[in-house]
Amino acid sequence: MSVISTIAIDGPAASGKSTLGKKLADKLGYLFFDTGLMYRALTWAVLCEQLELSNETAVSNLAATIEIDIRTPSQADGRNCDILVNGEDVTWQIRSPEVDANVSVVSAYPGVRTAMMVLQRRIGHRGRVVMVGRDIGTVVMPDADIKFYLDASLDERARRRYEELLLRGQEADLHEITQAMRLRDQIDSTRQVAPLRPAEDAIILNSDGLEADQVLQQVLDLVNSA
Ligand code: DC
Repeated sequence: MSVISTIAIDGPAASGKSTLGKKLADKLGYLFFDTGLMYRALTWAVLCEQLELSNETAVSNLAATIEIDIRTPSQADGRNCDILVNGEDVTWQIRSPEVDANVSVVSAYPGVRTAMMVLQRRIGHRGRVVMVGRDIGTVVMPDADIKFYLDASLDERARRRYEELLLRGQEADLHEITQAMRLRDQIDSTRQVAPLRPAEDAIILNSDGLEADQVLQQVLDLVNSA
């Protein structure tokens, strides 16, 4: 039996892939690497610097120079890790509805994707890693040892995001979240470069109506039998 060292998990927003990835990585003693955080951190910086979102050159230039650091958590406030942008802790800021609303535009630019991919591959190729995103199995790590594509219905995903925001004490409107998520899905899956789609050799799972631990068990069984 060959050892599974690189695990790719792709899927749409709030399909449960980050929860699954973190639990799986903890179980295996692997690094959990949520690549969406990098696109979120960059989007936060774009908004902060008040760059024109439609200015592809300016956004891509920022992607090439920005310092994004992902470290073990410094606080026990529900975070999986610290996200630093040029040294500043932006762990919760990058989860704001404003970032949610703009991240798909930023992450569709080819220059942005190239810059992020270089960093992601460097970490991925070290092995013993669970990488989560939209294009890990198709573009970033097409040679991953095993690939999963985790899906769930739009309604269930929107409800999860809504409950997540309420838990954090933030205001939330389920209808608005559903609309924003539908739009984000559409941009993510129709963009020219690295669109969201399952790799041909990905195992497709659906988390509708399942508890996180039930999905984890399915995945562990598949990893162990691979
Ligand atoms: O998984 P998430 O919702 O945190 O991702 C935020 C955005 O980042 C998502 O709308 C698309 C983009 N993304 C991407 O294009 N490629 C990845 N590998 C990960 C995320």
